[in-house]
Amino acid sequence: MENVITVSVRNVPPYDVVIRDDFNGLGQRLEALYDRERKLCIIADSNVSKLYGDDLKDELKKTYVSVDILSLELGEKNKSLETVSKCYTFLTEHRYSRKDAVIALGGGICGDVAGYVAATYMRGIGFIQVPTTLLSMVDSSSGGKTGVNFESYKNMVGAFKMPELVYINTSTLKTLNDREYSTGMAEILKAGLIRDGIFYEWLINNFSEINDRETEYVNEMILKSVNIKRLYVEKDPYEKNERAILNFGHTVGHALEKYTGFKYSHGECVALGSVAAAYISWKKDFLSMEEYYEIRDMFVPFGLPISIQDIDIEKIIEYLRSDKKNSEGHIRFILLKKIGKGIISDDVTEDEIRDAVRQIVYEPNE
Ligand SMILES: NC(=O)c1ccc[n+]([C@@H]2O[C@H](COP(=O)([O-])OP(=O)(O)OC[C@H]3O[C@@H](n4cnc5c(N)ncnc54)[C@H](O)[C@@H]3O)[C@@H](O)[C@H]2O)c1
Ligand SMILES: [Zn+2]
Repeated sequence: MENVITVSVRNVPPYDVVIRDDFNGLGQRLEALYDRERKLCIIADSNVSKLYGDDLKDELKKTYVSVDILSLELGEKNKSLETVSKCYTFLTEHRYSRKDAVIALGGGICGDVAGYVAATYMRGIGFIQVPTTLLSMVDSSSGGKTGVNFESYKNMVGAFKMPELVYINTSTLKTLNDREYSTGMAEILKAGLIRDGIFYEWLINNFSEINDRETEYVNEMILKSVNIKRLYVEKDPYEKNERAILNFGHTVGHALEKYTGFKYSHGECVALGSVAAAYISWKKDFLSMEEYYEIRDMFVPFGLPISIQDIDIEKIIEYLRSDKKNSEGHIRFILLKKIGKGIISDDVTEDEIRDAVRQIVYEPNE
């Protein structure tokens, strides 16, 4: 089975997001974009390279003469300019030119690093995403945001680089561990919450099939989530405005990631941040109390946390103040007007945030 979503961003050629359960036909598909003489460099997360590097290379070799694999150890700590530099060294030593292309094989970290390399090497070369985590399939691979961390700042250096193709092979999810799968689920639940209440209810009603990774359910939720992402990316590709709604749960989420030194995964922090944002939405009378508690409790069956220990709330507020996404001194928040409708709000006060963060801080002695 194959599903294709085409993303059309102004001033950039439209690109397809292909959802399948194998790598078959990828080489042929690429031929529509690049001629056979172009060199392809797979920049792969080393864990993923061991599992799927050869399969992907074999598929590409059916069509292309020159295919390299650059396998890198990747994590938040080496999502860095040093790693980018290693890629430039490889590409220059192997004489890659502007006509050639980079293929990211791995999760969001790999896509962000390889995308930044593709955006900047010789002022931009070809770029294909082959995401292998649930998070990168539904979120990071199709939106064109790339970049790396700088010193203690997450995603501080980056560029927009729309891919020319996103190829999702859902069978790669079989080897993903449960924690990483849950991380992706946080972004999927978020997509439903901000844009499609019916989809959100569908997720809740089918949590057991989804947790069992039943192909039909997995493919359906990936398709729906990519499509929601597409709507925002097409409307506001460079995040001047509405695309920020995709950051629901991320304001507090990013602060928690930073505060905990990345001990919690991105999705875990997004789940916690979503609970805080839903709480504020309830306090502002956008959501009912029942809706707030449903949103909070429904992260649990997907393996996501709704409370966290040992948090200094004032430190979180400090992180929020310094977050680069704040607008003119306000802490920008994405709230839910209702389940299925996210809105941008610049009038959330620090006291409201304190109160919301208190809801997710678990104090065993209380
Ligand atoms: N660019 C964007 O729009 C965007 C959006 C969301 C997140 N991000 C970024 O994405 C990153 C997180 O991405 P992630 O959650 O995919 O994590 P990740 O890239 O670190 O991958 C998670 C782990 O899973 C392993 N892995 C990947 N695919 C696998 C597979 N199929 N089988 C077994 N193991 C596999 C990896 O080796 C890694 O250890 C963060 O740095 C975040 O900032 C970017
Ligand atoms: Zn995210």
